Amino acid sequence: MEAHFNTEARAPFILGGIVNEEKQKIDYAIKIPGVLSFLAHGDMDKPVKGLNEFPKENWPPVAITHYAFQIMITLGMILCGISLLYLIAMWKKKHWMQANWFLRLFVFAIPLGYIALEAGWVVTEVGRQPWIIYGIMRTKDAVTPMPGIVYSFYIFTAVFVSLSAIVIFLLHRQLKMVGRLYDVTDPNFGIKSK
Ligand code: HEM
Repeated sequence: MEAHFNTEARAPFILGGIVNEEKQKIDYAIKIPGVLSFLAHGDMDKPVKGLNEFPKENWPPVAITHYAFQIMITLGMILCGISLLYLIAMWKKKHWMQANWFLRLFVFAIPLGYIALEAGWVVTEVGRQPWIIYGIMRTKDAVTPMPGIVYSFYIFTAVFVSLSAIVIFLLHRQLKMVGRLYDVTDPNFGIKSK
């Protein structure tokens, strides 16, 4: 996840950066010294083992795992920030609740949780490779030969694409009905009068 190639004391926590697997380094990253040591051992000075201590054939695809991890935590932090803004709006800045920028922020946030979720899944599934059972069995040895499996993949893809289209159509129709029944442009829409 951290693309940590060499064993180091005061190992840094790495934010962003471009992974160079060939040269075994990470460029343009922001490094916060000692934080990875602290996360791994509870001690900012303790060395953290690097990937180089392990045979290369046991490495996962380092770059994909690192980027997916970065995407997940960046989106997690953005979502925390948006939640914090909402709390501020509830306590101190009630007028934000009607402001376009504030409402747009929540629309913008809708896909972020899903993207973070998929990125988290990539972190664990790609990051665990080449093992299906760590240290005991490799994924390639566990695959059951299934001739024609690609067709069931196509069928499932077609089913999910059709279901997505139906959901989008139904939601769109529902929203149009709400729009016809109520004046959603009224600034007091949805607020109960005392
Ligand atoms: C806020 C910062 C976040 C941090 C520091 C973080 C950290 C982690 C770590 C360390 C893992 C790997 C766990 C393992 O090795 O088994 C992980 C996995 C995962 N994360 Fe995050 N995460 C964050 C935000 C999020 C968010 C916002 C979502 C989704 C909304 C998310 C969804 C997932 C998922 C689905 C997995 C895979 C779980 C599995 O397959 O076992 N994470 N996360």
